[in-house]
Amino acid sequence: MKNFEFQNCTKIIFGKDSEEKAGTEIIKYSSKILLHYGGGSIKKYGLYDRVKSCLKKEDIGIVELGGVLPNPRLKLVKKGIELCRQEKIDFILAVGGGSVIDSAKAIAIGVPYKGNVWDFFEEKTKIKESIPIAVILTIPAAGSEVSGASVITNEDGLYKKGVEANIMRPKFSILNPELTFTLGNNQTAIGVADILAHIMERYFTQEKNVDLTDRLCEATFKTLLRNTPVILKENNNYAARAEVMWAGSVAHNDLLDTGRVTDWASHMIEHELSAIYDIAHGEGLAIIFPAWMKYVYKNNIERFAQFGQRIWGVDFHPYDLEGMALEGIKRFEDFLKRIGLKTRLSEISISDDRFKEMAKKCTENGPVGSFVKLGKEDVLNIYNLAK
Ligand code: NZQ
Ligand code: ZN
Repeated sequence: MKNFEFQNCTKIIFGKDSEEKAGTEIIKYSSKILLHYGGGSIKKYGLYDRVKSCLKKEDIGIVELGGVLPNPRLKLVKKGIELCRQEKIDFILAVGGGSVIDSAKAIAIGVPYKGNVWDFFEEKTKIKESIPIAVILTIPAAGSEVSGASVITNEDGLYKKGVEANIMRPKFSILNPELTFTLGNNQTAIGVADILAHIMERYFTQEKNVDLTDRLCEATFKTLLRNTPVILKENNNYAARAEVMWAGSVAHNDLLDTGRVTDWASHMIEHELSAIYDIAHGEGLAIIFPAWMKYVYKNNIERFAQFGQRIWGVDFHPYDLEGMALEGIKRFEDFLKRIGLKTRLSEISISDDRFKEMAKKCTENGPVGSFVKLGKEDVLNIYNLAK
């Protein structure tokens, strides 16, 4: 196990009606906020009105900025920065999913910075300051409600890039599983694919003696395998929705990577897809992750055999670890199909036209991943395996 430091400062407020606490929590920080949200789901389902009335009870001034798109864009981030400066806003409440939260985080680091906020994403400068943000989460998926990361798409050149700093973690995140009842099955499954990917990016490590975190990863993974089929049948099943929602945060609050070297190649390879084709991130991961697995499993067959045995119940065959590994990958892909996801690019009408361009962009700062370091040709091979 590697040395590590672990700190996650985000307070979690979990459970039924928990969004009613937003006002009393925010007033500890600010009396005038930016209310940031997406394309309208919060208005359609009544959350917007409830949030506004609980903020008004605390006399919190509200300036609004809606319209965040999935795969959030830099243009709106810049608009948000200007708005916060004009209105002298020192706190942002993000109500929505990963896209809204990431947009809020990017605005928050942009407000105190004199240059172009994209500088942070291009690693031209380090993040030193941020105004605080908080979250009311409406979809378990990205884990941005507990992470110190923001992923933004620059429309100019279609670059999707992430930036990370502890200072960007939300001060608090409100998780009410009831708010996720309105998610359609496809959106729910896409979110689950992202959560599973966050676990696997950590699980597939070459680090030895990481038994506790292996088993925490396995428990989180199996919780999703058990509860996802339930919520796809019964959208309003609170108990199962609660398990999936909490798993989404546990998968990405960095506990599961303590003492390990994590990978993230599949995420980098996927981000090129969602940047160019504007597909949902989890939809892309359901296609890229199985392809990545098939490409790299030989670099640590024991670990993939363990994945097959402990997560998928594959029988132990000491003389056929490769068979165990391949069966685990197959069962994973079958699960994705069972929950309604596609596992090939051709099934979502993406051809090989731009594979070379994506492989080049993906590796322009050097090889990606740690389980195996992947260069441009490797990434191209993975896109081809995902065809
Ligand atoms: O925009 P609205 O109208 O709110 O609709 C959203 C959106 O269309 C809808 N939705 C959300 N909650 C709903 C709902 N519809 C009905 N009922 C509800 N309760 O869902 C759609 C997708 O929302 P989005 O926020 O895009 O989803 P997600 O949470 O999957 O976020 C994806 C983004 O997060 C980034 C991804 O790259 C992608 O841009 N990620 C961020 C990470 C981080 N900051 O740590 C890590 C992840 O790996 C990921 O890269
Ligand atoms: Zn992800």
